[in-house]
Amino acid sequence: QPARIVVVGSLNMDLVVKAPRIALEGETIKGGTFSTMPGGKGANQAVAASRLGAHVHMVGCVGDDGFGRELLDNLHKANVNTDYVTTVSGSSSGVAMIAVSESGENSIVIAPGANDRMAPEYVRQAESIIREADVVLIQLEIPMETVEEAVVIANRHQVPVILNPAPARSLPEALLKQIDILTPNETEGKLIVTGRAEGDIDVEEIIHDLKSKGVRQVVMTLGGEGVAYSAGEAVQRLKAYTVDVMDTTGAGDSFNAGLGVYLAEGGSLEEAVRFAQKVAALSVTGFGAQASFPSRTEVEGFQ
Ligand code: RIB
Ligand code: NA
Repeated sequence: QPARIVVVGSLNMDLVVKAPRIALEGETIKGGTFSTMPGGKGANQAVAASRLGAHVHMVGCVGDDGFGRELLDNLHKANVNTDYVTTVSGSSSGVAMIAVSESGENSIVIAPGANDRMAPEYVRQAESIIREADVVLIQLEIPMETVEEAVVIANRHQVPVILNPAPARSLPEALLKQIDILTPNETEGKLIVTGRAEGDIDVEEIIHDLKSKGVRQVVMTLGGEGVAYSAGEAVQRLKAYTVDVMDTTGAGDSFNAGLGVYLAEGGSLEEAVRFAQKVAALSVTGFGAQASFPSRTEVEGFQ
């Protein structure tokens, strides 16, 4: 019986240019090859989870343009159910302009398009599949009221919610109380706790603050520093795997998918974090987001 995952979130077409480094403000630099690749934090999670063996439904919106048709087609090929992906007429599909540097870092600007048109109504239409899910995965590239609706529906049916609060923004207090697992990076965690992305506050403090705001579990990704997660009142840390970094785009999305799939299968939080770390580590060794997401066999054969 495969894990049943519902992903509520964004779909983008990624327009990716390789560059020697990330350009500065006002600067033009000569890059390398250009690629068009399906992305978006939601669709990335969906494809990653499907590749790990889960049965996945995507809930989201595309525009009525060529990119929208390609994004749908891509999900079908990845074995992701798109019954609840709506084509919004008169809207363009979400697009992400991405530059990837030689060291594998990126800079991303998003034109949300149809993702911004994803009203709460679309989530209500998907209530019957959310009710049947083992885990619901959500991110923040769709309107906040739609995120809130998805969380309310999942809670109503006691389906655990993993919210990846990316891209960074502050979250309503009421929402935090309804989240089973929040998966911020350091910047995102800081912003949610203090209202500012800068300033000194340590990881343990962020995790404790989030828990005191009502989040049940916190799994914080620290890039090369690994992961810190809440274990009862304590904070546990797991080191990152050492790999050759080619492109980190979508690594966080694949991490969340790994976490969700493993928990949906009944694994413990610690095992799920370890599994998710392997998924993300493998993903950064390949170019692109979805193109680099590993299969179940690859993850199980890793290290
Ligand atoms: O997390 C990576 C994703 O962020 C990219 O695929 C891009 O579409 C943006 O949404
Ligand atoms: Na990658």
